[in-house]
Amino acid sequence: MIMETKRWTNNVLALLLVTIQCSSGLDNGLALTPPMGWLTWERFRCNTDCVNRPDDCISESLIKAMANLMAKEGYLQAGYQYIIIDDCWLASERDLNGLLQPDPDRFPSGIAALADYVHQLGLKFGIYVDFGVRTCGGYPGSEFYLQLDANTFAHWGVDYVKFDGCNSDPSDMDFGYEAFGLFLNKTGRPMVYSCEWPVYQQFAGLKPNYASIQRTCNLWRNHADISDEWSSVSSIIDYYGANINNLANFAKPGAWNDPDMLVIGNYGLSYEQSRVQMAMWAIMASPLLMSTDLRSISPEYKFLLLNSRLIAINQDPLGIQGQRILKINGTFVEVWSRPVLPKGSYAIAFLQLINPGNPTLVSVQAREIGLTATGGYSFTDSFTGQPAGTYGPDDMLKLLINPNGVVLFTAIPM
Ligand SMILES: *[C@@H]1O[C@H](CO)[C@@H](O)[C@H](O)[C@H]1NC(C)=O
Ligand SMILES: *[C@@H]1O[C@H](CO)[C@@H](O)[C@H](O)[C@H]1NC(C)=O
Repeated sequence: MIMETKRWTNNVLALLLVTIQCSSGLDNGLALTPPMGWLTWERFRCNTDCVNRPDDCISESLIKAMANLMAKEGYLQAGYQYIIIDDCWLASERDLNGLLQPDPDRFPSGIAALADYVHQLGLKFGIYVDFGVRTCGGYPGSEFYLQLDANTFAHWGVDYVKFDGCNSDPSDMDFGYEAFGLFLNKTGRPMVYSCEWPVYQQFAGLKPNYASIQRTCNLWRNHADISDEWSSVSSIIDYYGANINNLANFAKPGAWNDPDMLVIGNYGLSYEQSRVQMAMWAIMASPLLMSTDLRSISPEYKFLLLNSRLIAINQDPLGIQGQRILKINGTFVEVWSRPVLPKGSYAIAFLQLINPGNPTLVSVQAREIGLTATGGYSFTDSFTGQPAGTYGPDDMLKLLINPNGVVLFTAIPM
């Protein structure tokens, strides 16, 4: 205990240093566009039963299988670069020197070797740990070991760290997450820093300090975990639409709100609903972290995840998070808009989260959705790449929006 208290004091001292040194924000050169990759959690959870379910337990063979497919099946080429292990990779205790260690049966080659394997495919490697004494799954956490664990990750060749918040006191997070960020920085190895800091503070009734979160983390979770069902996906979109705590304003290159993984390709979403998730994650400048079995995904879902025009909207270099700008009177249809390059252009989504039973016809004047340039705009359907007409500010757009469906355009000034 004395040992631990001393470590904690060191952490706090280190933090005082960080506050003095860097008031200008996180400067690790990473995530200048929203991170793209694949993450174990939503699809594979904490399945550690490799005896009865060898193909889908959290293990080095699962990670290698997914990494191979990311490299060979066009995902890496499309931008999906990080492969990230979430909870349940750890052994039940630290080793005799206090170091984190993977479960020896499921990761017999060790994490450094797995990171090497991933790197040789041209991918980057991510891992997970928790700010508390234990992870959400009950494995060793980083509280009192922040610097040691940051050093271990750097030593293993980790490129991305997801830092969870179970089993900790959310009021400690303001300095704890900053301290871990400092220790990551001090390793000298650039690692994307993914935080769950605001979501745990909100659960605890605290108001997150987004200015400080934006300076400390490359991405941060605002909302409860996503699950493989429409009610979860639609409630997350609605949460961002309401722009709680003005959070859209905190997104910028290097710093992103994280509405959680893409569940496309799993069991819970229809094709229409999957289109909505892909379109809205593009509009909201959200990290694109697939969590699906790439060995068995159906072609139409794969095609959706690889849509280069949607990815280009997501990865737009301006890094402005799109927002809900209009709810069309008398319908369930809402309009979202995101400024993108070239200058003066927008990605525009017409979205219907509620299912009214059949498609809804809406008409709206271009200027009502912010398209005011007198020269007018040339529209392209972002899903198909087909030209979709030209509109001046006074012209009416007439569109059919499917139940739980979306129409997504880019509008470029002429
Ligand atoms: C650490 O922070 C400094 C100052 O913000 C920055 O210049 C440097 O690139 C960072 N290094 C890493 C590895 O993140
Ligand atoms: C909204 O629609 C209702 C009926 O459909 C109408 O009475 C009302 O004036 C409309 N409001 C606006 C702002 O258009």
